[in-house]
Amino acid sequence: MNPPWWKTCVAYQIYPRSFCDSDGDGVGDLRGIISKLDYLERLGIGMLWLCPVYASPNDDNGYDISDYEALQPEFGTLDDWIALRDGLHARGIRLVMDLVANHSSDEHAWFIESRAAKDSAKRDWYIWRPPAADGGPPNDWQSVFGGPAWEFDAASGEYYLHLFSKKQPDLNWENTAFRAELFAMMRRWVELGVDGFRMDVINLISKPEGLGAGGDEGGMDRALNGPRMRDHLAEMRREVFAGTDLVTIGETPGMPLELAREVTDERAPLLDMQFHFEHVDLDHAPGASKWDCTPMTMPALRATLSRWQEGMEPHGWNSLYLGNHDQPRAVSRYGDDGRYRRESATLLMTLLLTLKGTPFIYQGDEIGMANVAFDAIDDYRDIETLNAWRWLTGERGFDAAAALAMIRTKSRDNARTPMQWSAAPNAGFSTATPWIAPNPDYAAHNVAAAETDPDSVLHYTRRLIALRRETVALQHGRYCLLDAEHPALWLYERLDASTRCVIALNFSATAQALPAPLNTMRRVLTNVRNPSADTLAAWEARILVPA
Ligand code: GLC
Repeated sequence: MNPPWWKTCVAYQIYPRSFCDSDGDGVGDLRGIISKLDYLERLGIGMLWLCPVYASPNDDNGYDISDYEALQPEFGTLDDWIALRDGLHARGIRLVMDLVANHSSDEHAWFIESRAAKDSAKRDWYIWRPPAADGGPPNDWQSVFGGPAWEFDAASGEYYLHLFSKKQPDLNWENTAFRAELFAMMRRWVELGVDGFRMDVINLISKPEGLGAGGDEGGMDRALNGPRMRDHLAEMRREVFAGTDLVTIGETPGMPLELAREVTDERAPLLDMQFHFEHVDLDHAPGASKWDCTPMTMPALRATLSRWQEGMEPHGWNSLYLGNHDQPRAVSRYGDDGRYRRESATLLMTLLLTLKGTPFIYQGDEIGMANVAFDAIDDYRDIETLNAWRWLTGERGFDAAAALAMIRTKSRDNARTPMQWSAAPNAGFSTATPWIAPNPDYAAHNVAAAETDPDSVLHYTRRLIALRRETVALQHGRYCLLDAEHPALWLYERLDASTRCVIALNFSATAQALPAPLNTMRRVLTNVRNPSADTLAAWEARILVPA
């Protein structure tokens, strides 16, 4: 039996606000993406994940949806979306849309009706609770973006739950009518030709029983992987995906490996794959805030990803990523964005594209885009970042310089600066002032410059994607770690019945001996100019096959 299409292709993630602005308003849009379809085709990708493009007041840049069936006017019209869909399909690229269904915007008609009165027909579509005995919030849950996860509604005297901003009220998945309406909405997008959904925080949808009934101690991590999550996912699969070959990709923070393996088990899948967070959480201590950063080390990264590689066998499936719109830039975090920027960006691309699972390249990583260091907090736009600034400089007592340093390291805006197309003003992203300033390094690091440089990250990425597409072992072969101890080298193989590929990655700025017998294998790809048989140069990545 042929493997499903989503196991063999490479995916690319677009954050539409920051990709390409076609109409000169400083905001990326669908026509901008359409103008780059040939670029996407030349990369060799087979799937595009488009972050939310639905109507939204933009409290959280589209992750607060006010109408699931209308497009955000600044992004374009339904006709533009159809043109994008057709342009992708004509190039053999499938279109995956974001589904944000743990919460909606507080400006969604459902919430407006829910809030209108305690006896409104949609009251129960959201999670309302009376105050605690002291008049305060029903429990002590904190919002992911800071502050209590409950907002008081004076008109009805009740609180509603919002695990994210107060403009993102949580939907109540216990309500049958809500689920039926949600699934019907999804089926309408399926009829419009989407090829799948990336499901935002989909393991938060089932809140624990007794929520807010008093005695409900503990943080909001109690909402993770809740009691009816499996039932809801199974129902969604039946109601929306039965008989289709669409892909379902869960974003699942805090989902343990054993559960992820069960949920993506190909014999009875609830989701086809999921994004775990263990490797992106390695740079802060357990329980510490993401801003309290500790160094990210290769051995920790290797141990974590190897555990997931091995642990998802034989029936689960990984989504692979090193960065996305919520994370700092991969080259700044796991690589060296100074002297070895090109080498470490290509090494990280090699890692991403040679692990087992479906790799997701985040826009700009194919040209080695790096973190931005804005001069002042006023240059930042992200709600999480701005809330963190108030918390770090307030309750936490950091001075402005220290707080800014933390924000420069971890802000989600690192990944949201405009895509760097050329050295033209605004990085060639827009003719107007962009909604967020470009990274000033765009003069040297941009697509146009990368096209003319045969050693660029871009050209290397294209070669790597082509190699993966023609090498079955790199798609489906088993991952096997060759050395769990080496302080700088990460060595692993990918094995299937007929082929063996060895991947050797030097995560350091010093040359490292390539251990025998790997030094006798045939090199099919390296990211350095004059490789030596026995030694891996600084940040060298090499793919080897039997001689
Ligand atoms: C997910 C999204 C993130 C968003 C959050 C709330 O983690 O990736 O951007 O802020 O969910 O929807």
